Amino acid sequence: MEEDHRHHEPLDLASWDPPAELGLDAALTLRHATVADLEAMASLELASQPAPWPLESFEREQGLAWSRTWLVEDPSTGQLLAFLVFWIVHDEVHILNVAVDPAARRRGIARAVLRHFVAICRQKRVSFVTLEVRAGNEAARGLYAALGFRRIGRRKNYYADNGEDGVVMGLNIEES
Ligand SMILES: CC(C)(COP(=O)(O)OP(=O)(O)OC[C@H]1O[C@@H](n2cnc3c(N)ncnc32)[C@H](O)[C@@H]1OP(=O)(O)O)[C@@H](O)C(=O)NCCC(=O)NCCS
Repeated sequence: MEEDHRHHEPLDLASWDPPAELGLDAALTLRHATVADLEAMASLELASQPAPWPLESFEREQGLAWSRTWLVEDPSTGQLLAFLVFWIVHDEVHILNVAVDPAARRRGIARAVLRHFVAICRQKRVSFVTLEVRAGNEAARGLYAALGFRRIGRRKNYYADNGEDGVVMGLNIEES
């Protein structure tokens, strides 16, 4: 049997802070979400997902010790432009939700957020990042593939609203 040299130690739940600046041309900022952001997140979600999370789902995340929500905002207007919700699960991190405001898409915001996120995962010695995406979601699959995520499985009829398959994707941090 091949020996596995990965660490597998439980991850430290402290300091999963994003950098303050997104680093794109427009001076967009990154921070953790608070209760004051719930309404804006729920409306961005409504504009973004076929089966949107209700506000309560975002609220519940804020009460979970292993969950983090990062936000991108435009500091000149205070407008929420994107969010990323993830769970820290032992040595793995699972992405639960990502969305960018429809008017701000295709400007590199999601890629920039995920690059910062992967850099933090590397710093934290995460073994791998996983996520699930609708089989027909070309934009998201393109985004994840461009970041080095690979398809690791498929869940038939996973999405209850339309019976769409879920594609499970993974990024092995040590090999990426
Ligand atoms: C998927 C999503 C988060 C991408 O956000 P974004 O900020 O527009 O993405 P970026 O501008 O950073 O794009 C990065 C790369 O992703 C891919 N991509 C993004 N949108 C795409 C589209 N509409 N079609 C094809 N590829 C796309 C491209 O490879 C792109 O690189 P390029 O612009 O250099 O070609 C956004 O479309 C969204 O919020 N969709 C609805 C919610 C959703 O599907 N979330 C994911 C659920 S798992």
